[in-house]
Amino acid sequence: MNFQLTEEQKAVQMAARDFARNELLPGVIERDEKQKFPAEQVQKLGELGFMGMMVDPKWGGSGMDTISYVLAMEEISKIDASVSVCMSVNNSLVCWGLEKYGNDAQREKYLVPLASGQKIGAFLLSEPEAGSDATSQRTTAEDKGDHYILNGTKNWITNGSSASYYLVIAQTYPEKGHRGINAFIVEKAWAGVTVGAKENKLGIRGSDTHSIMFQDVKVPKENRIGDDGFGFTFAMKVLAGGRIGIASQALGIASGAYELALKYSKERKAFGTEISNHQAVAFKLADMATEIEAARLLCLKAAWTKDQGLDYTLSASMAKLFASDIAQRVTNEAVQVHGGYGYVKEFHVERLMRDAKITQIYEGTSEVQRIVISRTVLKG
Ligand code: CAA
Ligand code: FAD
Repeated sequence: MNFQLTEEQKAVQMAARDFARNELLPGVIERDEKQKFPAEQVQKLGELGFMGMMVDPKWGGSGMDTISYVLAMEEISKIDASVSVCMSVNNSLVCWGLEKYGNDAQREKYLVPLASGQKIGAFLLSEPEAGSDATSQRTTAEDKGDHYILNGTKNWITNGSSASYYLVIAQTYPEKGHRGINAFIVEKAWAGVTVGAKENKLGIRGSDTHSIMFQDVKVPKENRIGDDGFGFTFAMKVLAGGRIGIASQALGIASGAYELALKYSKERKAFGTEISNHQAVAFKLADMATEIEAARLLCLKAAWTKDQGLDYTLSASMAKLFASDIAQRVTNEAVQVHGGYGYVKEFHVERLMRDAKITQIYEGTSEVQRIVISRTVLKG
Protein backbone atom coordinates (compact mmCIF):
# COMPACT_ATOMS: atom_id res chain seq x y z
CA MET A 1 0.00 0.00 0.00
CA ASN A 2 1.35 3.40 -1.01
CA PHE A 3 0.29 6.55 0.83
CA GLN A 4 2.57 8.82 -1.22
CA LEU A 5 1.02 11.40 -3.53
CA THR A 6 2.49 11.65 -7.03
CA GLU A 7 4.34 14.81 -8.07
CA GLU A 8 1.35 15.75 -10.24
CA GLN A 9 -1.09 15.32 -7.35
CA LYS A 10 1.15 17.45 -5.08
CA ALA A 11 1.29 20.15 -7.77
CA VAL A 12 -2.52 20.22 -8.01
CA GLN A 13 -2.76 20.45 -4.22
CA MET A 14 -0.31 23.38 -4.12
CA ALA A 15 -2.04 25.19 -6.98
CA ALA A 16 -5.40 24.89 -5.21
CA ARG A 17 -3.85 26.01 -1.89
CA ASP A 18 -2.27 29.08 -3.51
CA PHE A 19 -5.47 29.94 -5.30
CA ALA A 20 -7.50 29.68 -2.10
CA ARG A 21 -5.10 31.89 -0.13
CA ASN A 22 -4.53 34.49 -2.84
CA GLU A 23 -7.90 34.65 -4.59
CA LEU A 24 -10.50 33.37 -2.15
CA LEU A 25 -9.39 34.57 1.26
CA PRO A 26 -9.61 38.29 0.41
CA GLY A 27 -13.34 39.08 0.40
CA VAL A 28 -14.60 35.77 1.79
CA ILE A 29 -16.13 37.42 4.88
CA GLU A 30 -17.90 40.05 2.80
CA ARG A 31 -19.22 37.53 0.28
CA ASP A 32 -20.63 35.48 3.15
CA GLU A 33 -22.21 38.51 4.81
CA LYS A 34 -23.73 39.88 1.58
CA GLN A 35 -24.58 36.44 0.14
CA LYS A 36 -22.57 37.35 -2.94
CA PHE A 37 -22.00 34.60 -5.50
CA PRO A 38 -18.21 34.31 -6.16
CA ALA A 39 -18.58 34.80 -9.93
CA GLU A 40 -15.08 36.16 -10.65
CA GLN A 41 -13.43 33.55 -8.44
CA VAL A 42 -15.32 30.70 -10.12
CA GLN A 43 -14.37 32.03 -13.53
CA LYS A 44 -10.68 32.03 -12.53
CA LEU A 45 -11.03 28.49 -11.17
CA GLY A 46 -12.40 27.48 -14.56
CA GLU A 47 -9.47 29.11 -16.35
CA LEU A 48 -7.10 27.07 -14.14
CA GLY A 49 -8.89 23.84 -15.08
CA PHE A 50 -10.60 23.19 -11.73
CA MET A 51 -14.20 23.11 -13.04
CA GLY A 52 -13.77 20.00 -15.20
CA MET A 53 -10.91 18.34 -13.38
CA MET A 54 -11.66 14.70 -14.19
CA VAL A 55 -12.96 15.24 -17.73
CA ASP A 56 -10.93 14.02 -20.71
CA PRO A 57 -9.06 16.96 -22.33
CA LYS A 58 -10.77 16.13 -25.64
CA TRP A 59 -14.01 17.32 -23.96
CA GLY A 60 -12.49 20.47 -22.47
CA GLY A 61 -11.38 18.97 -19.13
CA SER A 62 -8.09 18.60 -17.28
CA GLY A 63 -7.85 14.79 -17.37
CA MET A 64 -6.93 14.42 -13.70
CA ASP A 65 -7.74 11.59 -11.32
CA THR A 66 -10.28 11.64 -8.49
CA ILE A 67 -7.51 11.80 -5.87
CA SER A 68 -6.38 15.15 -7.32
CA TYR A 69 -9.99 16.30 -7.20
CA VAL A 70 -10.23 15.42 -3.48
CA LEU A 71 -6.98 17.28 -2.77
CA ALA A 72 -8.19 20.38 -4.62
CA MET A 73 -11.63 20.27 -2.97
CA GLU A 74 -10.01 20.12 0.47
CA GLU A 75 -7.81 23.15 -0.20
CA ILE A 76 -10.60 25.30 -1.68
CA SER A 77 -13.01 24.32 1.12
CA LYS A 78 -10.53 25.35 3.83
CA ILE A 79 -11.16 28.93 2.79
CA ASP A 80 -14.49 29.18 0.94
CA ALA A 81 -17.08 26.40 0.94
CA SER A 82 -19.43 28.53 -1.21
CA VAL A 83 -16.88 28.24 -4.01
CA SER A 84 -16.21 24.56 -3.39
CA VAL A 85 -19.89 23.55 -3.58
CA CYS A 86 -20.14 25.23 -6.99
CA MET A 87 -16.99 23.37 -8.01
CA SER A 88 -18.27 20.06 -6.64
CA VAL A 89 -21.64 20.22 -8.40
CA ASN A 90 -20.05 21.21 -11.70
CA ASN A 91 -17.26 18.61 -11.55
CA SER A 92 -18.75 15.52 -10.01
CA LEU A 93 -22.49 15.76 -10.75
CA VAL A 94 -22.77 17.66 -14.03
CA CYS A 95 -19.51 17.11 -15.94
CA TRP A 96 -18.97 13.55 -14.80
CA GLY A 97 -22.61 12.66 -15.53
CA LEU A 98 -22.40 14.06 -19.05
CA GLU A 99 -19.03 12.49 -19.82
CA LYS A 100 -20.03 9.06 -18.53
CA TYR A 101 -23.65 8.82 -19.72
CA GLY A 102 -24.13 11.52 -22.40
CA ASN A 103 -23.57 10.96 -26.12
CA ASP A 104 -20.94 12.70 -28.26
CA ALA A 105 -23.34 15.38 -29.52
CA GLN A 106 -24.29 16.24 -25.91
CA ARG A 107 -20.66 16.21 -24.85
CA GLU A 108 -19.67 18.50 -27.72
CA LYS A 109 -22.48 20.98 -27.13
CA TYR A 110 -22.69 21.00 -23.33
CA LEU A 111 -19.73 19.26 -21.69
CA VAL A 112 -17.00 21.23 -23.48
CA PRO A 113 -18.17 24.66 -22.22
CA LEU A 114 -18.92 23.25 -18.76
CA ALA A 115 -15.61 21.42 -18.31
CA SER A 116 -13.54 24.31 -19.63
CA GLY A 117 -15.20 26.73 -17.21
CA GLN A 118 -17.00 28.87 -19.81
CA LYS A 119 -20.39 27.83 -18.42
CA ILE A 120 -21.63 26.56 -15.06
CA GLY A 121 -23.98 23.61 -14.58
CA ALA A 122 -26.54 22.57 -11.96
CA PHE A 123 -28.15 19.28 -10.93
CA LEU A 124 -31.91 19.32 -10.31
CA LEU A 125 -33.22 16.32 -8.41
CA SER A 126 -34.80 17.69 -5.19
CA GLU A 127 -38.38 18.89 -5.09
CA PRO A 128 -40.55 20.36 -2.33
CA GLU A 129 -41.94 16.86 -1.67
CA ALA A 130 -39.07 14.71 -2.92
CA GLY A 131 -35.80 15.24 -1.04
CA SER A 132 -34.49 12.07 0.62
CA ASP A 133 -37.45 10.26 -0.95
CA ALA A 134 -36.03 10.96 -4.38
CA THR A 135 -38.08 8.40 -6.33
CA SER A 136 -41.27 10.43 -5.60
CA GLN A 137 -40.64 12.85 -8.46
CA ARG A 138 -43.60 15.16 -9.19
CA THR A 139 -41.94 17.04 -12.06
CA THR A 140 -43.27 15.53 -15.29
CA ALA A 141 -41.71 15.12 -18.72
CA GLU A 142 -44.48 14.19 -21.12
CA ASP A 143 -43.35 12.37 -24.27
CA LYS A 144 -44.63 14.24 -27.35
CA GLY A 145 -42.79 12.30 -30.04
CA ASP A 146 -39.77 14.39 -31.03
CA HIS A 147 -39.74 16.35 -27.75
CA TYR A 148 -40.83 16.32 -24.11
CA ILE A 149 -42.93 18.88 -22.24
CA LEU A 150 -41.51 19.59 -18.82
CA ASN A 151 -43.64 20.85 -15.91
CA GLY A 152 -42.87 21.14 -12.20
CA THR A 153 -40.75 22.73 -9.50
CA LYS A 154 -37.27 21.86 -8.23
CA ASN A 155 -35.96 23.40 -5.03
CA TRP A 156 -32.69 24.01 -3.21
CA ILE A 157 -30.76 24.14 -6.48
CA THR A 158 -27.06 25.00 -6.08
CA ASN A 159 -25.82 27.26 -8.92
CA GLY A 160 -29.53 27.86 -9.60
CA SER A 161 -29.08 31.33 -11.07
CA SER A 162 -25.44 31.21 -12.17
CA ALA A 163 -25.77 28.00 -14.20
CA SER A 164 -26.56 28.07 -17.90
CA TYR A 165 -27.34 24.36 -18.15
CA TYR A 166 -29.41 22.18 -15.86
CA LEU A 167 -29.49 18.39 -15.56
CA VAL A 168 -33.14 17.82 -14.68
CA ILE A 169 -34.65 14.61 -13.32
CA ALA A 170 -38.36 14.16 -14.14
CA GLN A 171 -41.07 11.51 -14.31
CA THR A 172 -42.25 10.35 -17.75
CA TYR A 173 -44.22 7.19 -16.84
CA PRO A 174 -45.68 7.57 -13.31
CA GLU A 175 -47.10 4.03 -13.47
CA LYS A 176 -43.54 2.66 -13.71
CA GLY A 177 -42.31 4.39 -10.53
CA HIS A 178 -38.58 5.07 -10.47
CA ARG A 179 -38.15 3.05 -13.70
CA GLY A 180 -40.21 5.72 -15.51
CA ILE A 181 -37.90 8.59 -14.58
CA ASN A 182 -35.71 10.36 -17.15
CA ALA A 183 -32.80 12.82 -17.01
CA PHE A 184 -32.58 15.81 -19.38
CA ILE A 185 -30.25 18.64 -20.29
CA VAL A 186 -32.27 21.85 -20.08
CA GLU A 187 -31.01 25.32 -20.92
CA LYS A 188 -31.88 28.06 -18.43
CA ALA A 189 -32.56 30.44 -21.32
CA TRP A 190 -35.40 28.31 -22.73
CA ALA A 191 -39.00 29.59 -22.64
CA GLY A 192 -40.91 28.47 -19.55
CA VAL A 193 -37.89 28.24 -17.21
CA THR A 194 -38.13 30.56 -14.16
CA VAL A 195 -35.51 31.03 -11.43
CA GLY A 196 -37.02 31.69 -7.98
CA ALA A 197 -35.62 33.94 -5.24
CA LYS A 198 -32.23 33.17 -3.67
CA GLU A 199 -32.47 31.29 -0.34
CA ASN A 200 -31.18 33.18 2.73
CA LYS A 201 -29.06 30.48 4.39
CA LEU A 202 -27.19 29.68 7.61
CA GLY A 203 -23.97 28.78 5.79
CA ILE A 204 -22.45 28.62 2.29
CA ARG A 205 -24.16 31.97 1.92
CA GLY A 206 -22.22 32.94 -1.21
CA SER A 207 -23.61 29.89 -3.02
CA ASP A 208 -26.73 30.70 -5.04
CA THR A 209 -29.47 28.31 -3.97
CA HIS A 210 -32.79 28.74 -5.80
CA SER A 211 -36.04 27.05 -6.71
CA ILE A 212 -36.42 26.48 -10.44
CA MET A 213 -39.87 26.33 -12.05
CA PHE A 214 -40.71 24.71 -15.39
CA GLN A 215 -43.90 25.56 -17.21
CA ASP A 216 -44.52 23.76 -20.50
CA VAL A 217 -40.81 23.76 -21.34
CA LYS A 218 -40.12 22.10 -24.69
CA VAL A 219 -37.12 19.77 -24.37
CA PRO A 220 -35.85 18.18 -27.62
CA LYS A 221 -35.61 14.41 -27.46
CA GLU A 222 -31.88 14.55 -28.19
CA ASN A 223 -31.46 16.21 -24.78
CA ARG A 224 -32.51 13.09 -22.87
CA ILE A 225 -29.52 11.42 -21.20
CA GLY A 226 -29.30 7.68 -21.78
CA ASP A 227 -32.11 5.24 -22.53
CA ASP A 228 -35.77 5.89 -21.81
CA GLY A 229 -36.28 5.34 -18.06
CA PHE A 230 -32.58 5.63 -17.13
CA GLY A 231 -33.03 8.87 -15.15
CA PHE A 232 -33.17 7.54 -11.58
CA THR A 233 -30.20 5.21 -12.05
CA PHE A 234 -28.39 8.17 -13.62
CA ALA A 235 -29.12 10.29 -10.53
CA MET A 236 -27.93 7.59 -8.12
CA LYS A 237 -24.74 6.87 -10.09
CA VAL A 238 -23.89 10.55 -10.35
CA LEU A 239 -24.61 11.15 -6.66
CA ALA A 240 -22.16 8.44 -5.58
CA GLY A 241 -19.34 10.48 -7.14
CA GLY A 242 -20.87 13.72 -5.88
CA ARG A 243 -20.67 12.39 -2.34
CA ILE A 244 -16.88 12.09 -2.69
CA GLY A 245 -16.87 15.79 -3.56
CA ILE A 246 -19.00 16.78 -0.56
CA ALA A 247 -17.00 14.50 1.76
CA SER A 248 -13.88 16.37 0.62
CA GLN A 249 -15.65 19.66 1.16
CA ALA A 250 -16.44 18.62 4.75
CA LEU A 251 -12.83 17.52 5.19
CA GLY A 252 -11.60 20.91 3.98
CA ILE A 253 -13.96 22.84 6.24
CA ALA A 254 -12.66 20.77 9.19
CA SER A 255 -8.99 21.10 8.31
CA GLY A 256 -9.34 24.84 7.64
CA ALA A 257 -10.82 25.33 11.11
CA TYR A 258 -8.19 23.08 12.70
CA GLU A 259 -5.29 25.01 11.10
CA LEU A 260 -6.72 28.28 12.44
CA ALA A 261 -7.22 26.81 15.92
CA LEU A 262 -3.69 25.36 15.98
CA LYS A 263 -2.13 28.70 15.03
CA TYR A 264 -4.27 30.67 17.48
CA SER A 265 -3.51 28.28 20.35
CA LYS A 266 0.22 29.00 19.97
CA GLU A 267 -0.31 32.78 19.96
CA ARG A 268 -2.99 33.41 22.58
CA LYS A 269 -1.79 33.57 26.18
CA ALA A 270 -3.84 32.89 29.31
CA PHE A 271 -2.58 32.26 32.86
CA GLY A 272 0.93 33.27 31.79
CA THR A 273 1.39 30.80 28.95
CA GLU A 274 0.19 29.99 25.44
CA ILE A 275 -3.19 28.27 25.64
CA SER A 276 -1.74 25.27 23.73
CA ASN A 277 0.18 24.53 26.96
CA HIS A 278 -3.10 23.87 28.73
CA GLN A 279 -3.78 20.20 28.30
CA ALA A 280 -7.52 20.71 27.74
CA VAL A 281 -6.70 22.78 24.64
CA ALA A 282 -3.86 20.49 23.48
CA PHE A 283 -6.15 17.44 23.71
CA LYS A 284 -8.79 19.16 21.60
CA LEU A 285 -6.12 19.69 18.93
CA ALA A 286 -5.08 16.04 19.22
CA ASP A 287 -8.67 14.86 18.68
CA MET A 288 -9.17 17.24 15.77
CA ALA A 289 -5.96 16.14 14.03
CA THR A 290 -6.83 12.46 14.47
CA GLU A 291 -10.40 12.81 13.20
CA ILE A 292 -9.28 14.86 10.21
CA GLU A 293 -6.67 12.25 9.29
CA ALA A 294 -9.32 9.51 9.44
CA ALA A 295 -11.71 11.55 7.27
CA ARG A 296 -8.95 12.27 4.77
CA LEU A 297 -8.12 8.57 4.46
CA LEU A 298 -11.80 7.74 3.85
CA CYS A 299 -12.03 10.43 1.16
CA LEU A 300 -8.85 9.26 -0.54
CA LYS A 301 -9.94 5.61 -0.33
CA ALA A 302 -13.26 6.47 -2.02
CA ALA A 303 -11.39 8.43 -4.71
CA TRP A 304 -8.88 5.62 -5.22
CA THR A 305 -11.72 3.09 -5.49
CA LYS A 306 -13.35 5.21 -8.21
CA ASP A 307 -10.05 5.66 -10.05
CA GLN A 308 -9.54 1.86 -10.00
CA GLY A 309 -12.91 1.39 -11.76
CA LEU A 310 -14.35 -0.43 -8.72
CA ASP A 311 -17.78 0.15 -7.14
CA TYR A 312 -17.35 3.18 -4.89
CA THR A 313 -20.96 3.66 -3.69
CA LEU A 314 -20.20 2.32 -0.22
CA SER A 315 -16.87 4.07 0.27
CA ALA A 316 -18.32 7.40 -0.95
CA SER A 317 -21.21 7.20 1.53
CA MET A 318 -18.86 6.23 4.39
CA ALA A 319 -16.56 9.14 3.57
CA LYS A 320 -19.44 11.62 3.43
CA LEU A 321 -21.06 10.36 6.63
CA PHE A 322 -17.84 10.49 8.63
CA ALA A 323 -16.32 13.65 7.17
CA SER A 324 -19.53 15.68 7.61
CA ASP A 325 -19.80 14.61 11.25
CA ILE A 326 -16.21 15.54 11.99
CA ALA A 327 -16.66 18.87 10.19
CA GLN A 328 -19.40 19.65 12.71
CA ARG A 329 -17.32 18.61 15.71
CA VAL A 330 -14.01 20.12 14.62
CA THR A 331 -15.44 23.52 13.65
CA ASN A 332 -17.33 23.68 16.94
CA GLU A 333 -14.12 22.97 18.87
CA ALA A 334 -12.18 25.47 16.75
CA VAL A 335 -14.59 28.19 17.87
CA GLN A 336 -14.10 27.01 21.47
CA VAL A 337 -10.30 27.23 21.18
CA HIS A 338 -10.68 30.82 19.97
CA GLY A 339 -12.88 31.76 22.95
CA GLY A 340 -14.86 34.98 22.35
CA TYR A 341 -12.75 35.82 19.28
CA GLY A 342 -14.08 32.67 17.64
CA TYR A 343 -17.58 34.09 17.83
CA VAL A 344 -16.86 37.05 15.55
CA LYS A 345 -16.45 37.05 11.79
CA GLU A 346 -12.85 38.30 11.53
CA PHE A 347 -11.44 35.02 12.85
CA HIS A 348 -13.19 32.87 10.18
CA VAL A 349 -14.03 29.88 12.40
CA GLU A 350 -17.64 30.92 13.03
CA ARG A 351 -18.23 30.90 9.26
CA LEU A 352 -16.65 27.47 8.93
CA MET A 353 -18.89 26.24 11.77
CA ARG A 354 -21.98 27.52 9.94
CA ASP A 355 -20.76 26.10 6.62
CA ALA A 356 -20.12 22.66 8.13
CA LYS A 357 -23.79 21.91 8.85
CA ILE A 358 -24.90 21.66 5.22
CA THR A 359 -22.51 18.77 4.57
CA GLN A 360 -24.74 16.56 6.77
CA ILE A 361 -27.79 17.51 4.68
CA TYR A 362 -27.14 17.83 0.95
CA GLU A 363 -26.26 15.08 -1.53
CA GLY A 364 -28.08 12.73 0.83
CA THR A 365 -28.53 13.43 4.54
CA SER A 366 -26.47 11.49 7.09
CA GLU A 367 -29.53 9.27 7.58
CA VAL A 368 -29.60 8.53 3.81
CA GLN A 369 -25.88 7.65 3.92
CA ARG A 370 -26.68 5.24 6.75
CA ILE A 371 -29.44 3.70 4.60
CA VAL A 372 -26.96 3.17 1.74
CA ILE A 373 -24.24 1.82 4.05
CA SER A 374 -26.51 -0.45 6.11
CA ARG A 375 -28.18 -1.96 3.03
CA THR A 376 -24.76 -2.78 1.60
CA VAL A 377 -23.25 -4.22 4.77
CA LEU A 378 -26.40 -6.24 5.52
CA LYS A 379 -26.22 -7.75 2.02
CA GLY A 380 -22.73 -8.92 2.97
N1 CAA B 1 -26.50 2.99 -8.41
C1 CAA B 1 -27.37 2.51 -9.31
N2 CAA B 1 -28.67 2.29 -9.05
C2 CAA B 1 -29.09 2.54 -7.80
C3 CAA B 1 -28.24 3.02 -6.80
C4 CAA B 1 -26.88 3.25 -7.15
N3 CAA B 1 -25.99 3.73 -6.27
N4 CAA B 1 -28.94 3.18 -5.66
C5 CAA B 1 -30.19 2.80 -5.94
N5 CAA B 1 -30.27 2.42 -7.24
C6 CAA B 1 -31.44 1.91 -7.95
C7 CAA B 1 -31.96 0.63 -7.30
O1 CAA B 1 -31.29 -0.51 -7.81
C8 CAA B 1 -33.42 0.65 -7.68
O2 CAA B 1 -33.59 0.23 -9.02
P1 CAA B 1 -34.25 -1.23 -9.38
O3 CAA B 1 -35.52 -1.32 -8.58
O4 CAA B 1 -34.44 -1.14 -10.83
O5 CAA B 1 -33.24 -2.23 -8.92
C9 CAA B 1 -33.74 2.13 -7.69
O6 CAA B 1 -32.52 2.83 -7.82
C10 CAA B 1 -34.45 2.58 -6.41
O7 CAA B 1 -33.60 2.26 -5.34
P2 CAA B 1 -34.14 2.00 -3.88
O8 CAA B 1 -35.23 0.98 -3.91
O9 CAA B 1 -32.97 1.75 -3.03
O10 CAA B 1 -34.83 3.43 -3.58
P3 CAA B 1 -35.32 4.09 -2.24
O11 CAA B 1 -36.60 4.76 -2.51
O12 CAA B 1 -35.26 3.09 -1.12
O13 CAA B 1 -34.23 5.28 -2.01
C11 CAA B 1 -32.17 6.32 -1.47
C12 CAA B 1 -32.89 5.08 -1.95
C13 CAA B 1 -30.71 5.88 -1.27
C14 CAA B 1 -32.72 6.85 -0.17
C15 CAA B 1 -32.22 7.42 -2.56
O14 CAA B 1 -33.55 7.83 -2.80
C16 CAA B 1 -31.38 8.63 -2.22
O15 CAA B 1 -30.17 8.63 -2.47
N6 CAA B 1 -31.98 9.72 -1.67
C17 CAA B 1 -31.24 10.97 -1.39
C18 CAA B 1 -31.30 11.89 -2.57
C19 CAA B 1 -30.11 12.79 -2.63
O16 CAA B 1 -28.98 12.42 -2.32
N7 CAA B 1 -30.32 14.01 -3.13
C20 CAA B 1 -29.27 14.92 -3.36
C21 CAA B 1 -29.69 15.97 -4.35
S1 CAA B 1 -28.33 16.77 -5.15
C22 CAA B 1 -27.66 17.76 -4.02
O17 CAA B 1 -28.01 17.74 -2.88
C23 CAA B 1 -26.53 18.64 -4.56
C24 CAA B 1 -26.00 19.56 -3.57
O18 CAA B 1 -26.55 19.77 -2.52
C25 CAA B 1 -24.82 20.31 -3.76
P1 FAD C 1 -36.33 15.33 3.97
O1 FAD C 1 -36.08 14.29 2.97
O2 FAD C 1 -37.72 15.80 4.16
O3 FAD C 1 -35.73 14.87 5.37
C1 FAD C 1 -36.07 15.48 6.62
C2 FAD C 1 -35.39 14.66 7.72
O4 FAD C 1 -35.94 13.33 7.73
C3 FAD C 1 -33.88 14.49 7.49
O5 FAD C 1 -33.20 14.48 8.73
C4 FAD C 1 -33.78 13.12 6.85
O6 FAD C 1 -32.53 12.50 7.01
C5 FAD C 1 -34.90 12.38 7.58
N1 FAD C 1 -35.39 11.25 6.79
C6 FAD C 1 -36.12 11.27 5.65
N2 FAD C 1 -36.34 10.02 5.23
C7 FAD C 1 -35.75 9.17 6.12
C8 FAD C 1 -35.62 7.76 6.22
N3 FAD C 1 -36.14 6.93 5.32
N4 FAD C 1 -34.94 7.25 7.28
C9 FAD C 1 -34.37 8.08 8.21
N5 FAD C 1 -34.46 9.42 8.15
C10 FAD C 1 -35.14 9.97 7.11
N6 FAD C 1 -30.82 19.23 -4.30
C11 FAD C 1 -30.62 19.12 -5.64
O7 FAD C 1 -31.26 18.33 -6.31
N7 FAD C 1 -29.66 19.86 -6.23
C12 FAD C 1 -28.90 20.76 -5.58
O8 FAD C 1 -28.04 21.41 -6.17
C13 FAD C 1 -29.12 20.91 -4.16
N8 FAD C 1 -28.41 21.83 -3.45
C14 FAD C 1 -28.76 22.08 -2.14
C15 FAD C 1 -28.18 23.17 -1.47
C16 FAD C 1 -28.61 23.48 -0.18
C17 FAD C 1 -28.02 24.66 0.52
C18 FAD C 1 -29.62 22.70 0.45
C19 FAD C 1 -30.13 23.04 1.83
C20 FAD C 1 -30.15 21.60 -0.20
C21 FAD C 1 -29.74 21.30 -1.50
N9 FAD C 1 -30.34 20.26 -2.23
C22 FAD C 1 -30.12 20.12 -3.57
C23 FAD C 1 -31.38 19.47 -1.60
C24 FAD C 1 -30.84 18.41 -0.64
O9 FAD C 1 -30.25 17.38 -1.34
C25 FAD C 1 -32.04 17.95 0.22
O10 FAD C 1 -32.33 19.00 1.11
C26 FAD C 1 -31.72 16.67 0.97
O11 FAD C 1 -31.59 15.59 0.09
C27 FAD C 1 -32.80 16.36 2.02
O12 FAD C 1 -34.08 16.45 1.50
P2 FAD C 1 -35.23 17.31 2.27
O13 FAD C 1 -34.66 18.66 2.51
O14 FAD C 1 -36.46 17.22 1.48
O15 FAD C 1 -35.40 16.61 3.66
